[in-house]
Amino acid sequence: MKPNTTFLYKADPVRGRAWAEVFRRRAPELDFRVWPDIGDPARVRFLAAWEPPGDIATRFPNLKLLLSSGAGVDQIDFAALPPDLPVVRMVEPGIIRGMVEYVTHAVLDLHRDMPAYRRQQQAAEWQPLQVKPANERRVGVLGLGSLGQAVLAHLLPFGFDCAGWSRSRHAIDGVSCHAGADELGDFLRRTDILVCLLPLTDATRGLLNASLFARLPAGAALVHVGRGPQLVADDLIAALDAGRLSEAVLDVTAPEPLPCEHRLWRHPRISITPHIASMTQPATAAEVVLENLRRFEAGEPMVGLVDRTRGY
Ligand code: GLV
Repeated sequence: MKPNTTFLYKADPVRGRAWAEVFRRRAPELDFRVWPDIGDPARVRFLAAWEPPGDIATRFPNLKLLLSSGAGVDQIDFAALPPDLPVVRMVEPGIIRGMVEYVTHAVLDLHRDMPAYRRQQQAAEWQPLQVKPANERRVGVLGLGSLGQAVLAHLLPFGFDCAGWSRSRHAIDGVSCHAGADELGDFLRRTDILVCLLPLTDATRGLLNASLFARLPAGAALVHVGRGPQLVADDLIAALDAGRLSEAVLDVTAPEPLPCEHRLWRHPRISITPHIASMTQPATAAEVVLENLRRFEAGEPMVGLVDRTRGY
């Protein structure tokens, strides 16, 4: 590492303190700072941020690398960045484990009719429902990046009938993989529990809408852990009210936080969590970040490098 190098962290300050502690132990040669304590801006070569400052190009003349503090990069205004500044997404085991836990929990909860039993309990109603074997439950994951693949790897051992869809072709053992707009319809037609793990791009904004819901089998359920603007909330409510969909689990909404008067909060077939499905874990993230810094300095390919034309 070049001497006098500052690594600046600009995201949640409480998490920033945890990052600082890990970096002080693991990379004492780095001058690790938490925003707004930027020190000498000319020494900032690395910036880990959720939302980078608007004047990034002029404020940090020697910035070499921007790291998103989270898995997504849709919150970053690429037009405000120097055109050749490399940007990396956070691909780290802690985020992946968190997402696997959340989605597995949601899928099992839906599979075993827990929302219905919670409603029954409210009414003191004892009404056993038929238990469906997992191999008769068709789970479909939209998005086959590192998160989608990890989720599928953990759902398969339960015996679920698993499929995946993504923009580009993938091959995953035991998973029926679909690719591109032409194969979306087949994927949806065979999906009882739809998990959205897509990045937010112009192509995925508003994708979870009435026309997509109409292509799912009647009574399908949604687990949305992508990004809020991918979902058309009114279309979801209409699909639930019409019985087209049976349940929805939402960890992301538009806007966030969801205003208290929003209809989504009070729908009896919607469960909402406040964007907590998965969080970057400083201890595991630091290892990945330090390895990426090493790769960067050595001119080797970095993990999670964003393709700006693709948007993720
Ligand atoms: C959270 O949504 C993240 O992008 O890490």
